[in-house]
Amino acid sequence: MAKKKSETVFICRECGATQPRWLGRCPQCGEWNTLEESSSREVAAGAAHSAAAPRGTALPRPVPLAGVDPMEGSRVSMGVGEFDRVLGGGAMKKSSILLGGEPGIGKSTLLLQAAARVSGAGHQVLYVSGEESAAQIKSRLDRIGLRAAGIQMLCAANLDDINHALTAINPLLLIVDSIQTVFSPEAGPVPGTVNQLKYCAYDLVSWVKADYTPRDADGAVLIMSAHVTKDGYIAGPKSLEHLVDCVISFERSDDEIRFLRAQKNRFGSIDELGIFCMGEKGLAEVEDPSALFITRREGKLPAGIAYAPVFEGSRVFLVEIQARTVNAKGAMSRVYSEKIDSARVSRVAAVLEKRLGLRFSDQDIYVNVAGGVRLTESAIDSALAAALYSARTDIPLREGSALVGELSLAGEIRPVTRIKQRVKTALGLGWTKIFAPETEDGVTRVQSIKELIAELNAENSA
Ligand code: TYD
Ligand code: MG
Repeated sequence: MAKKKSETVFICRECGATQPRWLGRCPQCGEWNTLEESSSREVAAGAAHSAAAPRGTALPRPVPLAGVDPMEGSRVSMGVGEFDRVLGGGAMKKSSILLGGEPGIGKSTLLLQAAARVSGAGHQVLYVSGEESAAQIKSRLDRIGLRAAGIQMLCAANLDDINHALTAINPLLLIVDSIQTVFSPEAGPVPGTVNQLKYCAYDLVSWVKADYTPRDADGAVLIMSAHVTKDGYIAGPKSLEHLVDCVISFERSDDEIRFLRAQKNRFGSIDELGIFCMGEKGLAEVEDPSALFITRREGKLPAGIAYAPVFEGSRVFLVEIQARTVNAKGAMSRVYSEKIDSARVSRVAAVLEKRLGLRFSDQDIYVNVAGGVRLTESAIDSALAAALYSARTDIPLREGSALVGELSLAGEIRPVTRIKQRVKTALGLGWTKIFAPETEDGVTRVQSIKELIAELNAENSA
């Protein structure tokens, strides 16, 4: 009797899990109101499609691994240095990349800039846009001052049209902006469902993986853009993450600054940060970002401020940590800190309280980082300690001082990695005194929180 019902299934728009009946909350990913009705035939069609051998390949058979070409050196530059950096030194041929970000953050701009550079290097580029007209895109390109040279533009949303164009053009780079607009009648009558998304993305990914060869290279690159929801998750496209080789996301720092990060990268590290500035001429790469997050101050520093050289990927940045303490409003004191983990702030405050007898347990503590970067390195501990100490005592740090070191619960300051680069960057930016547990040129050696505070006080009374 339940047979009729089973023709309808419900698919979660976030994670793609299938349920036999509608539920308010997806049991797989825990999201609310994400189940969408779909017919089991459509789902079966999608599954059969996904299970089929990739297009253009014969039946899969094992090969001796020893004889496999590891695709050494087969990366393609996207012509945008910061983008290449996040990809691990350019895009791997035969790879697929998902670029996520909230609407208006600059995905189309970045992709257009990459398209212009790659085509400028003499390669075929197919740019599929389901959102903007060719005229809109051309006028944007003109305004940014880029040449359209060899970019082939396809304003279509039907997967078949895209496939035809692929056969005709044989591009090295296929850009699909955005994958949420692509639609195939074979994946059900309603555009925009998870089923559609998975079906179309799978089709395109299998195109790039297949034994397809662009005219002028031994493998192509696929980049699909995707809109994400406010809470930062790639809505719907989350279900594509396992399908693609790289998941890259675009985030906003302050008004113009944009960060590019890899969440997943089969061919590189996920630690590298790409930095851009959105301006009149599109996205400009920030070439020397070491001083991006600091505000230069004239004269004396206010209390509660300390500087630290931190690593993001392979680059050093000088950051400004700001702290403020006020008498606790409730019976319990609280830590308000978004950019540095609150547990770290509490731990450093506890060490200060224990080792210096400075009371924090009756204080509400506010901590911020200028420029909106999130700091996760333990190397910031001693700068955080100095900012908290300065905030609590109202004694400012001497201008030009920066701090590096990890703080143990016993109050020791421990060495951190890559100290030479940190010191060099801080000195290069005009900072004059670096407190660290190492012996280096330009470094004042401090090995415990007591020594550090004694040094800071001595500086102030000098
Ligand atoms: P866009 O690349 O269309 O964003 P997405 O594809 O992620 O939705 O970027 C749109 C925003 O960028 C828009 O608000 C205008 C701004 N912008 C500039 O400030 N300067 C420029 O040169 C360009 C092309 C866009
Ligand atoms: Mg766009």
